[in-house]
Amino acid sequence: MKADVLLGLQWGDEGKGKIVDVLTSKYDIIARFQGGPNAGHTLEFDGIKHVLHTIPSGIFHPGVINLIGNGVVIDPVIFEREVQEIKMLGIPMSELLISKKAHLILPTHKLLDAASEKAKGKGKIGSTLKGIGPTYMDKTGRNGLRVGDISDPNFKEKYEKLKRKHIQILNFYDFEYKLEELEAAWFASLATLKSFDHIESEHYIHTALKEKKKILAEGAQGTLLDIDFGSYPFVTSSNTIAAGACTGLGVSPNKIGEVFGIFKAYCTRVGSGPFPSELFDEVGVRLGKVGNEFGATTGRPRRCGWIDIPALKYAININGVTQLMMMKGDVLSGIDTIKACTHYELNGEQIDYLPFEDNEDLIPVYKDLKGWAMDLMQLEDLSDAPKEVHDYIAWLEDILETPISIVSVGPDRKQTLFR
Ligand code: GDP
Ligand code: IMO
Ligand code: MG
Repeated sequence: MKADVLLGLQWGDEGKGKIVDVLTSKYDIIARFQGGPNAGHTLEFDGIKHVLHTIPSGIFHPGVINLIGNGVVIDPVIFEREVQEIKMLGIPMSELLISKKAHLILPTHKLLDAASEKAKGKGKIGSTLKGIGPTYMDKTGRNGLRVGDISDPNFKEKYEKLKRKHIQILNFYDFEYKLEELEAAWFASLATLKSFDHIESEHYIHTALKEKKKILAEGAQGTLLDIDFGSYPFVTSSNTIAAGACTGLGVSPNKIGEVFGIFKAYCTRVGSGPFPSELFDEVGVRLGKVGNEFGATTGRPRRCGWIDIPALKYAININGVTQLMMMKGDVLSGIDTIKACTHYELNGEQIDYLPFEDNEDLIPVYKDLKGWAMDLMQLEDLSDAPKEVHDYIAWLEDILETPISIVSVGPDRKQTLFR
């Protein structure tokens, strides 16, 4: 048996949470493999809207194991809040497992994130300020604290040692902070984290695969925010790509099955960094309004633009995408001419890849496609969609050389059309 992976092909917020929830009934285990509470995965069903940050999006399906893998970074305070919110909905959560190797976000990691962003001024990353960067820095710097350390009798000592180091770095910045309250809340929240099973998750996964259990790895962020392949330095601090599922769960590359690549029918980005097909006109404003494009974690408005084909091709290749899923097709309804960026112009020349330099200077070259008037949100069968919708999908499949297996036409679980 192989593990399937579902991940974002753009700058995050493609609708991963919604589709993981839709697909969960086909799986035994849903596992997060990277990122942390910088993620905001929205699920809507039965009139409930729910945003998950650390907990996998299969949590609302009884009997399915939800696993937080070793590649994830956990803020116990945010985790506790998430647990409380889900329990309030009457979900027991006994099937949530946590890797002992997942790293902990300390209060001082959050302060360091904020201090670093402040020092960057105009060049700031636009981080979610959840402490993601500093926590992964401590992980690769071999200084981090992990979930398994909580039960170590020397945990407090280890914590104090790392905290002291952080305070020295904070002193280097022109940054004021108050730590006591944050720290008290952090230690209090450890009780909730402790109340779940902490496991050797890689062994658990190996056994599950041998027992022919079906696993879906749920990505966070998107390919263009990947630490290696994203628009560096305006990226997150983990490998958001399919390879991240291998390192973030302990699954070998030859045990990866389907790779589901999710993309919006247009494009959004929250935070700083290049976005060649960004719109600054009324169409961009309209996409943001109709698409309700506000960050699920920070509430910040998302920047909006047309779909970017070279960027999508790049993401498909890096991830080995086997099936595409097109989200938010409904948001394009009522736009007469839809544009798709097929190339970029750089220094007077046309290119169809993202170059190392000058991403800010890329001029998008567009192809026009005919739009449709029909509101797609009510569609129950894709065959009832207007011809222009079919043409848009067929054109994308052709140029991306990958089949589109799901078309999403609204935020609700039910507004999902299979092809
Ligand atoms: P994720 O981070 O990839 O899980 O995506 P987010 O939850 O951050 O953002 C996606 C947003 O779009 C959420 O508000 C979803 O409820 C919403 N959404 C998902 N699919 C669709 C869709 O097909 N149409 C519309 N209109 N909204 C959608
Ligand atoms: P989901 O899983 C969209 C962006 C931030 C910032 C950059 C670095 O919901 O798709 P970080 O806090 O990771 O150091 O921020 O990455 N970012 C996201 N953008 N969706 C996300 O997650 C994101 N997680 C981080 O806005 O530009
Ligand atoms: Mg999100």
